Amino acid sequence: MASQLPETKLHPEILALTNKLDELVLKKATPDEVGNAAQKAKAQVMQVTHLQSAPTSWPNISRGKQIYAQNCVTCHGEKADGQGVAATALNPPPISFFDASRMNGLSPFKVFNAIQIGVPGTAMAPIKKISDEDTWAVAFYAMSLRHEALAQQDKDAAQKAYVSVADKIHLEDVASLSDDQLLQSGGSELVVASFRTYSGENDYKRALENSKVLSARFDH
Ligand code: HEC
Repeated sequence: MASQLPETKLHPEILALTNKLDELVLKKATPDEVGNAAQKAKAQVMQVTHLQSAPTSWPNISRGKQIYAQNCVTCHGEKADGQGVAATALNPPPISFFDASRMNGLSPFKVFNAIQIGVPGTAMAPIKKISDEDTWAVAFYAMSLRHEALAQQDKDAAQKAYVSVADKIHLEDVASLSDDQLLQSGGSELVVASFRTYSGENDYKRALENSKVLSARFDH
């Protein structure tokens, strides 16, 4: 973890914590001990690098699509299949957001980091001009693409799948877990698809409807 940090010099406290972590692993400490030390190190890293592991509110996927069109299309392509106009000149080539072998292990958090930190040794340079909120939006958009077909196929079923687990899965989990991990914790492909394609604007619409209902009541 520590070796992948951006340019900043390692904070001595983080170094101490990651060394402690190595030590615990070598000593074969209990999973609890290692877990606690890892949590501490992670919190420190977040603080020093100002990285957030999750957005503060559910990202708007339509907004993410706009950000994608403005910042990613030349390399990753209009269809997000890795076939952008600049792609042929690049080695390694940009990834396709439909490539299961690359996407299964990614999470919105990892996409967020790829955008803000870049992928060293590739043409994927850090893109600093996008705000954190918009970076989350485009990360969630990128993660939604290969699930769209399944979610669209039966919208009612996808919505039911979402509602059935919505109160058990937190935004932080959806942001930091990979598709594989979500599948393990969430159940079916449909549940994963319903989470990955869920957009903050839906909440917004619901809030608007609620406020309409309320104001209708008070208008009498
Ligand atoms: C200048 C070309 C270029 C632009 C612009 C670009 N990328 Fe990339 N991107 C790449 C290349 C090349 C790779 C392949 C790196 C590899 O194989 O690991 C890559 C890899 C990635 C990865 C995989 C990271 C990982 O850890 O596996 C993600 C996610 C990604 N890009 C998202 C984006 C998003 C989202 C945008 C727009 C906000 C964007 N990229 C803009 C060229 C680009």
